[in-house]
Amino acid sequence: MTGAEDHGESAAKDGTGTEADDWRPDTGRISAMLEAIAATGRDPRGGVSRLAYSAEERKAHDLVGGWLRELGLSCRQDAVGNTIAERAGENPRAPGIGTGSHLDSVPRGGRFDGVAGVVAAVEVMRILNEHGLRTHHPLRVVAFAAEEGARFGEPCIGSKAVAGLLEAADCVRARDLDGVTIAEAMRGTGLDPERLAEARWNAEDWAAFVELHVEQANVLETEDLALGLVDLVSGSTRMLLTARGQAQHSGSTPMALRADALTTAAAIVLLAEAVATDPRHRGTRATVGRLEVEPNSITTIPGTVRFTVDVRDVDSDRQRRTAAELVERGRQISARRGVELDVEVMADSSPAVLPMWLRQLNSEVCQRLGVPYRVMSSGASHDAQMVNRVAPAAMLFVPSKGGLSHVPEEWTSAADIAEGAHVLLHALLRIDGFLADLPLPGVDPEGSLGR
Ligand code: GLV
Ligand code: MN
Ligand code: MN
Repeated sequence: MTGAEDHGESAAKDGTGTEADDWRPDTGRISAMLEAIAATGRDPRGGVSRLAYSAEERKAHDLVGGWLRELGLSCRQDAVGNTIAERAGENPRAPGIGTGSHLDSVPRGGRFDGVAGVVAAVEVMRILNEHGLRTHHPLRVVAFAAEEGARFGEPCIGSKAVAGLLEAADCVRARDLDGVTIAEAMRGTGLDPERLAEARWNAEDWAAFVELHVEQANVLETEDLALGLVDLVSGSTRMLLTARGQAQHSGSTPMALRADALTTAAAIVLLAEAVATDPRHRGTRATVGRLEVEPNSITTIPGTVRFTVDVRDVDSDRQRRTAAELVERGRQISARRGVELDVEVMADSSPAVLPMWLRQLNSEVCQRLGVPYRVMSSGASHDAQMVNRVAPAAMLFVPSKGGLSHVPEEWTSAADIAEGAHVLLHALLRIDGFLADLPLPGVDPEGSLGR
């Protein structure tokens, strides 16, 4: 095995800088990539709508795949539409170190969620090429497909598939607002859901994964910090509730004789807020983000209301307890109002605890580069959360202006992404050097540090 001297981070071991510390990501290139991706799926109503398994998402993958090929990386699309590119390492048998994020968006979302991490990864590969630096491990860029749960309820479809967390049944169960299943949407973009199992990663092929992402909250901005190192990533329980009452004339039906599905749903919306703000569930977030009223007419009492509840927490017990309490009390409210309540769990994803050793290496990198940072948890879901089931994963957050995300106003400056990409570059090199220096089990019986 070659020593760390050969992979550019050797001088860092004693805490001093390296020549590579001065390799700066190019904000112009970053802006141009962001702009090009934002042009795929630009929504005339504002923001971008590049939904999971849409033609626009595929276009963005083709674009990024093209850039990676131009950089000399071998690039493929896997069975579920993830784009995976590899920059060869010195040791062809070494497992890969990955980086990347996703390219889809929520309806009328922003241009940075997911895209920032993909663009940063491409820029890092470009810098390594420019300086002719070979790493010990192969480096891989992954643009995951269908991360946003906004379309099907199911989040992180591409990364769940690689981690073995997505079943064929999920692909025919979850449907979008038009009744299209995940499997149908995949077929619509030329993918074959029957090949789902082929997308699964073998843990032995992956040494680590680092995802850069926009923070989507305002902690970094408020504290004037450039970078967040993520310790916990929230899980989510998503439910589709259907309140069924009786549609009736809005003028002739006395108030006491109604079974109004919308007032029942409204009471449950407020219940969700009350339960999540109860001190017993402190830290939980519960959101009703989608509500469909039938017949949606001024002069008819609503007969049916379908609405979603999204419960998120970094504590899996509390997440599921909150969801269960909401359902139980929601049923009581409905029964009192003479309304039936059906509950369907759309998706249930566990929170993740990201490994300390990677965060420790990344905090050393921030200190060495003089980048102000803090450790923080993620309220959103991320691909790294799923990848962590198959390869140790880390996350780097860069600031979000005003903390806004999932809206057209979402913003992170190219300079802030470049700062994050600078840390990402050195995080990858540090991990590469660290793992290359670890004695292999059986080679050095004294060296037992956990690989
Ligand atoms: C992904 O953006 C999520 O909804 O957490
Ligand atoms: Mn995202
Ligand atoms: Mn998102």
